[in-house]
Amino acid sequence: MNVPVITIDGPSASGKGTIAERVAAELGFHFLDSGALYRLTALLAMKHGVLLDDEAGVTALASSLPASFHDGATWLDDENVTEAIRAEAVGEGASKVAALPAVREALLGRQRAYAQPPGLVADGRDMGTVVFPHAVTKVFLTANAEARAERRYKQLIEKGNSANLAALVRDMRARDERDTQRAVAPLKPSADALVLDSTLLNIDQVVETVLRHYHSIRAKQI
Ligand code: DC
Repeated sequence: MNVPVITIDGPSASGKGTIAERVAAELGFHFLDSGALYRLTALLAMKHGVLLDDEAGVTALASSLPASFHDGATWLDDENVTEAIRAEAVGEGASKVAALPAVREALLGRQRAYAQPPGLVADGRDMGTVVFPHAVTKVFLTANAEARAERRYKQLIEKGNSANLAALVRDMRARDERDTQRAVAPLKPSADALVLDSTLLNIDQVVETVLRHYHSIRAKQI
């Protein structure tokens, strides 16, 4: 099936989720937030009391993950877990289960199944390198750790949480280190990806750059 896929990978808080969703909306494409699948797997394991380093146990859950995305929300069976999967503890859990090769393998087919007409925009860490190596357009979105920490800081303050900017910068660097040094599917730009540094760009400018890149590739194909 020749469905156009656009992949947007990058480190945490690079803004890739927002950008991917906006690009998908502009093109009328489907949208896959692959990080949500790792978060859902971690949440389900926590609910079932399965240890997050129990590869066989977590993989069994990931293989038949009762997850769905509809009505603007994220569901595990009929429970709305939109907020729950964003909790810090679930994010930590997601990064642990994401390091288990069998879990990644179990989620592979499910991610690829999102490539449906008229097209897909997928965001994550390994969309362009592993999940959709033949994607028509690949983007690797970065921003320096300070800029990403500042964006996260603003989000937290807006939601009424307290936050410490210096600690966020430290966390961001530690997470980058873990994601890029991981043995399976480490975070790195695919050789054929457009590497886009968004440190000095706003959301509209990044969306526009990604769309322009996609259209220029499509124009060459026709
Ligand atoms: O993007 P996020 O914060 O929702 O991702 C949650 C965790 O899942 C994060 O630790 C990285 C991991 N992840 C991954 O390993 N591969 C992906 N394609 C997406 C996320």
